[in-house]
Amino acid sequence: MKKFDVVAIGELNTDIILNKIDGFPQVGKEKFAKDMTLTLGSSTAIFAANIAALGVKTAFVGMIGNDVFGKLIKNSLAEKSVYTNFLIQSDKYPTGATIVLNYGEDRANITFQGAMDFMTFDDIDKKIFQKTKHIHISSIFMQSGLKKDLLKILKFASENGVRTSLDTQWDPSEKWDLDYKTILPYVSVFMPNEKELQLLTGSSDLNTAIEKILPFINVCIIKCGKNGSILVQKDGTQHYQEAFLNENVVDAIGAGDSFNSGFIYQFIKGQSLTECQRFGNLIGAINTTASGGTSAFTSKENIEQIAKEKFKQSISL
Ligand SMILES: Nc1ncnc2c1ncn2[C@@H]1O[C@H](COP(=O)(O)OP(=O)(O)OP(=O)(O)O)[C@@H](O)[C@H]1O
Ligand SMILES: [Mg+2]
Repeated sequence: MKKFDVVAIGELNTDIILNKIDGFPQVGKEKFAKDMTLTLGSSTAIFAANIAALGVKTAFVGMIGNDVFGKLIKNSLAEKSVYTNFLIQSDKYPTGATIVLNYGEDRANITFQGAMDFMTFDDIDKKIFQKTKHIHISSIFMQSGLKKDLLKILKFASENGVRTSLDTQWDPSEKWDLDYKTILPYVSVFMPNEKELQLLTGSSDLNTAIEKILPFINVCIIKCGKNGSILVQKDGTQHYQEAFLNENVVDAIGAGDSFNSGFIYQFIKGQSLTECQRFGNLIGAINTTASGGTSAFTSKENIEQIAKEKFKQSISL
């Protein structure tokens, strides 16, 4: 018996979200925001919180500073039933933050990466690899230490019989310098969105991108927003699954991370890949029924109820 079903390794920061802003800020001037939220940010944390909400035993490995934001992150993860004893507290680096300026449908973000940029393989307690069935890694371009050691971590996981999933997320530097040919053979489930896959492979269309990764993947699931997702298997077979239509999207923040949590929820149970895909789509759609990445996932009962009422899906978590 493993202590955890899933360990999420990755980035942790706080989101300072400013809403109802008078106008665009200009250098040398000042504006008012009429509303502010301080909350747990980061893609990997949304994944961890939501898969824990589905009932999966989840731990987090990430680096935070010895400061107020670090405490906020630790408490927020613990409140979501994510095990926090493997968090690494740095005395050297502060916890990072993203300042989000919300303008209606659109946002402008600035991120200070802080401690999360510095975590490497050496910082990770290797016991974690014996204690889990699955490791999920996300936002690799936001964490230079982790990116440098990605292959090492994936190989170590593979040697310990641990399956892995990887969601690269966006590259803020837009260089997309990840050697996917070397990395992907060690990734059990690769989880990019369609744009990211094209940029990573330098392809002008999705079919070319799929052809390029095919010799290297085990399983790849491509997220296509309101168009659903495409499952690609090693033998080249593809399965398209349309999204669960949500007529009243509140916002799609974190939909991709929620999709990942739904897919991996079924994957660790040994369900078929098409069932993993269907469930990923459903959890992604549920995400869009409430604001931000985690607020639709308050309890198993609530998730079951949204699935039934909004998407006519009967699920039992
Ligand atoms: N408007 C929507 N209605 C229904 N389902 C949606 C909608 N938007 C997204 N989804 C579901 O969520 C999944 C993931 O969303 P998306 O493709 O936006 O991921 P992403 O680009 O990785 O997002 P993120 O910014 O969270 O990383 C989609 O494959 C789809 O199943
Ligand atoms: Mg994404």
